Amino acid sequence: MTVGLAGEPARPPAEPGDLEAVRDRLAREPGELTPHRVARALRESGRPVGDAAVLAVYEALRRDVVGAGPLEPLLRTPGVTDVLVNGADRVYLDRGAGLEPTGVRFPDEEAVRRLAQRLAAVGGRRLDDATPHADLRLPDGTRFHAVLAPVARPGTLISLRVLRPRGFTLEELEAAGTLGPDAAELLRAIVATRLAFLVSGGTGTGKTTLLAALLSLVAPAERIVLVEDAGELRPRHPHVVGLESRPANIEGAGEIGLRTLVRQALRMRPDRLVVGEVRGGEVVDLLAALNTGHEGGCGTLHANSAVDVPARVEALALAAGLARAAAHSQLASAVDVVLHLARDRDGRRRLAQVAVPERGSDGLVTMAVALGLGPDGTITPGPAAGRLASRLGS
Ligand SMILES: Nc1ncnc2c1ncn2[C@@H]1O[C@H](COP(=O)(O)OP(=O)(O)OP(=O)(O)O)[C@@H](O)[C@H]1O
Ligand SMILES: [Mg+2]
Repeated sequence: MTVGLAGEPARPPAEPGDLEAVRDRLAREPGELTPHRVARALRESGRPVGDAAVLAVYEALRRDVVGAGPLEPLLRTPGVTDVLVNGADRVYLDRGAGLEPTGVRFPDEEAVRRLAQRLAAVGGRRLDDATPHADLRLPDGTRFHAVLAPVARPGTLISLRVLRPRGFTLEELEAAGTLGPDAAELLRAIVATRLAFLVSGGTGTGKTTLLAALLSLVAPAERIVLVEDAGELRPRHPHVVGLESRPANIEGAGEIGLRTLVRQALRMRPDRLVVGEVRGGEVVDLLAALNTGHEGGCGTLHANSAVDVPARVEALALAAGLARAAAHSQLASAVDVVLHLARDRDGRRRLAQVAVPERGSDGLVTMAVALGLGPDGTITPGPAAGRLASRLGS
């Protein structure tokens, strides 16, 4: 596989210091890689901004970032959200209609491995037999995940999530058919009333996207504190700060996990505490925070249906040492509403359910449906419709 741009006229190479400075800045504020942004980043880091320097850095980064060899045309195809490599012979993409096989092939497993390692290095991580997995964000914002073979089968697995140049607004989600006007109105009310909510759904159903759209509706005077594994949420809001977890270094030291970060975030006077993706023990800290006066918190959670949310929270909390009864009681009082997303057979992502946690006489939480939303936009009120309305003060 060739990843260099063979045949291009030679240009003076970028100064390593320039490259580092720009990479740093762009990584802090992911977005599309353009010469304009490179020039700005150079300027902001007090480095020379001549045309030659800008171009040299731009091209070096472009090669780094989009030097994805045979994957590059796929990543550039309009509408593509995911590119998945299952070893040398199978590459799939998703452009909104479910997974589609592509004709792209790598010469051999070694080539896939090399590409995975190179992209990981671009994101500042090692990927080798000692640490055969990596999850990170490339400087252009693309989310990169890989697991090397033989841990991964049938070969090295690479999952790339393409970042939209900017997130969806709630109106755009409406236009895309993700939800209708009435549901959008309800979500606006949920944000305005500062209810605590979880966005649930299966993988790639648009949870992060919906959460970002909702955070963009938060009143400008509020301070949003994001806690994430890989900085992904970029709400359009004037006051957003974020904390990102960090894996251990090669000596096994220096790990900063989400639990620590949630606790740190609480000391930062958040008006909205946001855990981008709740997938471990941080659920305990988030629930505790929401139960101790931190209203309006939110996050996303993998779950196949809204009904599964309590079991999922319970499992994560148990693994972190919180007893079952405590997990349920915390969930019931912490979370006001769950917004569940689903993906239809035709690939369309949509809001499918709005549900409210309800505590039974056994103390366990079940999800009561407030609204069911059909593929054709029909809204069916469920048993908890009244409870949701009263939480919204209407
Ligand atoms: N409603 C939507 N309509 C069209 N495309 C969407 C919609 N929501 C999300 N997408 C696109 O689908 C991809 C997956 O979205 P997102 O990252 O929000 O999903 P997720 O459920 O958070 O995924 P994961 O399970 O990996 O966390 C993104 O590229 C996003 O731009
Ligand atoms: Mg997500």
